[in-house]
This record gives sequence, structure tokens and C-alpha cells, in this order.
Amino acid sequence: MAAARVQPGARWIDGTFGRGGHASALLEAGAQVLALDRDAAAGPAAHALSARWPGRFAWQQRNFEELKTCAQQHGWNSVDGGILLDLGVSSPQLDTAERGFSFQSDGPLDMRMDQRAGPTAADLVNDSTEAELAALFYEHGGEREARRVVRVLAARRRVAPFHRTADLAAVVAAALPHRRAAGVHPATKVFQALRIAVNREQEALVNTLPQAIELLAPGATLAVISFHSGEDRVVKNFLREHAAEWLDTPAHPNTLPNPRHLLRNVKRFLPSEDEIERNPRSRSARLRVAIRNEETVS
Ligand SMILES: C[S@@+](CC[C@H](N)C(=O)[O-])C[C@H]1O[C@@H](n2cnc3c(N)ncnc32)[C@H](O)[C@@H]1O
Repeated sequence: MAAARVQPGARWIDGTFGRGGHASALLEAGAQVLALDRDAAAGPAAHALSARWPGRFAWQQRNFEELKTCAQQHGWNSVDGGILLDLGVSSPQLDTAERGFSFQSDGPLDMRMDQRAGPTAADLVNDSTEAELAALFYEHGGEREARRVVRVLAARRRVAPFHRTADLAAVVAAALPHRRAAGVHPATKVFQALRIAVNREQEALVNTLPQAIELLAPGATLAVISFHSGEDRVVKNFLREHAAEWLDTPAHPNTLPNPRHLLRNVKRFLPSEDEIERNPRSRSARLRVAIRNEETVS
């Protein structure tokens, strides 16, 4: 949170509480924090913070896609500090085999951050058409050999459906034998794609960013940390579209004021070498920050 100036008493929403690292830093700096996480496993850390900071911290097990409703139900029609989204999965989620996010340890093929509702990764792998699966692996995982993988998966699921992560990882690896020497597990992209689809991560982000702008008071901060190029592109384009002073379209090449000029001071931060050494998973993190302008949404 070093990238944001935190004023004592200011209202912040942490849309991705996890185990509360960012929320704790905001509370230590004197902020009031409303935290959201769709995963019930965030509960114990959130309850500990409620006990430590009574009256200044609240959490709800909700999708940040409901950002505006959550804020309003908390009595906040606007947020004068900032809104933070630290996207993707947490280390505890990845490291708990029973959650089914990892190809490195065997668990049920689940991958739901919110386990109150489906579908699971097993449902997608077993029930999607081959064309749907290939599109999913390519679009969300960048898997260039998606069709080859799907051919092998489809042949296997006709005999026995998939239920376990290790089984799926082994079948994907067998479909891509030439990848074994590359140092990255051949199932990495397929697992990423399934996780993103199961949790509708891209849709949630696209639906949430406009709500964040509506909630932010002038001068408040929007901060988004992304971990893969698909979500970073969504954030980058959204910030660019709302930070441009002029509309730049073929019909209006920088000749009309941009009615959506609602953000300024857009900045990007990459992790330092030190951070990467301390936490190797931060290697691909991209933090993008912007400040809300004075204008209101029309
Ligand atoms: C990278 S971790 C955040 C770690 C956190 N910043 C910390 O300091 O511990 C991402 C968290 O966001 C949650 N999450 C991801 N997408 C979400 C969504 N659409 N709504 C609510 N929570 C979400 C995940 O369950 C996970 O706990």
C-alpha cells in the first residue's frame, strides 16, 4: 500500500480481503475499512481484525461484483480513501489441496472461491462441449495447443469423467509431452483458464470497475493488482479510457472532450527485486493506480 497515501479516518474498501494483509496495513494507517471476499475461508482472519479494530473494520462474504450494494448496505454512498482489488487467488487457496486450484497436489477438481454455488472445474471439464473447452483454454489461459489438449481430454472423459486435479494434470501433461522439459508444468495454462472461468473472474472485474468509479469521491484512489495479462489488459484499457482528456476516435481525433474523463494520475508499479525474492508469486503482479477526478458520472 506504499503507493497510496492513507488519511486517518478515510473510508477504504478492500474488495479482496484474502488473509487481510492489505486491510491490516490500511487499518494501521488509521483508515476505516470495509472488506469483501467471496471465500468463506477469509472469515477467521476477518473476525480477528473485527476484534482488533472494533468500529473501524467490517467484512462481508460477498463478490466484489456487488461493490456498490455492499458499500450502500454498510452506509457508505461514497468512498473518500480508496478501493483496492488484489485480483486472483491467494496463496492459502493455492496451497490447500482440497480447494482444487493446484496441479501440484491432488484434490477434488473444484476451484470455486465461493463454494456456496456451482459450477466446479469438474463440471466445466466434463460437461462443456469440445469447442467451448478449447475456446476457454485459449482465451483465459493463452493455451496455443488448446485443441490438441481438448482432443485428449474428450477421449478420456468418454471413458471416465474427471474428478481430481492430479488426474487432469497428468492427462494434460500426456497431451503435451514436448512441454515437459520447459520448466513450467504443461497443465499451468489449462488450470489458470479453468479457475478464471469457474469464478467468472473477467466478468466480475469488468462489472466492478464502473461501480468503483461511481463510489469514489474526488481525490480518492483506485488501486488494482493483477496477475495475468488478460485481467491487466482490462484494467489498463479501463483506466486509459477514463483518464483521457479528449476522445480519440476516427470521427473525433482528439477534438471533443471525453465525457468519461473521471480519472487522473494513472500509474503502473511493478514488484521490486526484493519483493520477488521474498514472494516469488509476486513476479507477474502489476499494480495500476488512479485518482478520481472532480467530475460526476452523467
Ligand atoms: C490475491 S488474494 C488477496 C490477498 C490479500 N490482499 C491479502 O493481503 O491477504 C485474492 C483474494 O480475493 C478473493 N477474490 C477474488 N475474486 C473475488 C471476487 N470477485 N469477489 C470477492 N473476492 C474475490 C479471493 O477469494 C482471494 O481471497
